[in-house]
Amino acid sequence: CQANYSAASHPEFAKQPEQVRNFLLYKHCRNFTVLQDVPLDKCAQPVFLLLVIKSSPANYERRELVRRTWGRERQVLGVQLRRLFLVGTAPDPLEARKVNWLLELEARAHGDILQWDFDTFFNLTLKQVLFLQWQETRCSNASFLLNGDDDVFAHTDNMVAYLKDHDPSRHLFVGHLIQGVGPIRIPWSKYYIPKIVTQEEKYPPYCGGGGFLLSQFTATALRRASSALDLLPIDDVFLGMCLEHEGLKPTRHNGIRTSGVQTPSARVPSFDPCFYKDLLLVHRFLPYEMLLMWDALSQPELSCGKRTQVY
Ligand SMILES: *[C@@H]1O[C@H](CO)[C@@H](O)[C@H](O)[C@H]1NC(C)=O
Ligand SMILES: *[C@@H]1O[C@H](CO)[C@@H](O)[C@H](O)[C@H]1NC(C)=O
Ligand SMILES: *[C@@H]1O[C@H](CO)[C@@H](O)[C@H](O)[C@H]1NC(C)=O
Ligand SMILES: *[C@@H]1O[C@H](CO)[C@@H](O)[C@H](O)[C@H]1NC(C)=O
Repeated sequence: CQANYSAASHPEFAKQPEQVRNFLLYKHCRNFTVLQDVPLDKCAQPVFLLLVIKSSPANYERRELVRRTWGRERQVLGVQLRRLFLVGTAPDPLEARKVNWLLELEARAHGDILQWDFDTFFNLTLKQVLFLQWQETRCSNASFLLNGDDDVFAHTDNMVAYLKDHDPSRHLFVGHLIQGVGPIRIPWSKYYIPKIVTQEEKYPPYCGGGGFLLSQFTATALRRASSALDLLPIDDVFLGMCLEHEGLKPTRHNGIRTSGVQTPSARVPSFDPCFYKDLLLVHRFLPYEMLLMWDALSQPELSCGKRTQVY
């Protein structure tokens, strides 16, 4: 894909950090080679919940733990759960050779790697947009999607129970709702967005990118909007913009805690499984913690008192 050098004629362009300059030159590029794809029959059976997990190439252990725990492909309450990871490649060519080899092995063993040949500052937005494009032809009939990171703990049984009360052909977009924030104009911030990228001072409401649920209807609306809008490097804000463009709104779900859980007292350890048994998703688990939590929550005799209710 060719750089768009007319972006460089903007008087503010030269002042921008390199990643912003690259974003401006390449943001129109949306056609990348697929390095690994999932098997054609991934969605051959009606998929109720498709788990779509963003992962960095080297995060092998995290993917393994997700596969063994909450992301295991299985039937839950009589409906099908399927999993795939969205992965880019590594910036360093030597490292890229290694991780591409790793991902090839994983794809062969598990059939759950969807990898594109890119590595950019806005790779998270690209993953989202390219996934929606991919889904149109390869898994358009999934009733619901979970979009999330590979370091979350998703209580997929609870998710299915929650989603079964919803209609996939109606709007649904729920997660950790963020509203009333705008672009950070401080150049050294990880989330720096200068005026040359967007003039807006307020972002529309959006859900934190750690994990959110959406319906088939809403995925279709987002696909339409994402091909009409200019990309933004921040993936979750970009989806908020897509929703706004379609006249749709994100909603808060109290069971989705992408900023962690608060225990009633500092002396109550926040790792207690009882805090998690009614939640849908919590951010930031180490791989081994995922295994422990999954094991604890799978015990039928897990008994929890009042003390361990979360608010
Ligand atoms: C290139 O950038 C200019 C100015 O930023 C914009 O008007 C134009 O549409 C862009 N072209 C493409 C192909 O994206
Ligand atoms: C994307 O690239 C492929 C292969 O290079 C090409 O066949 C296809 O037409 C391109 N699509 C678009 C929309 O540019
Ligand atoms: C993608 O972007 C994130 C955040 O900007 C960065 O940490 C990561 O190294 C990038 N590359 C890939 C391949 O994910
Ligand atoms: C679901 O759609 C995909 C294409 O998006 C197709 O390959 C698959 O056969 C469909 N599955 C069912 C059960 O209709």
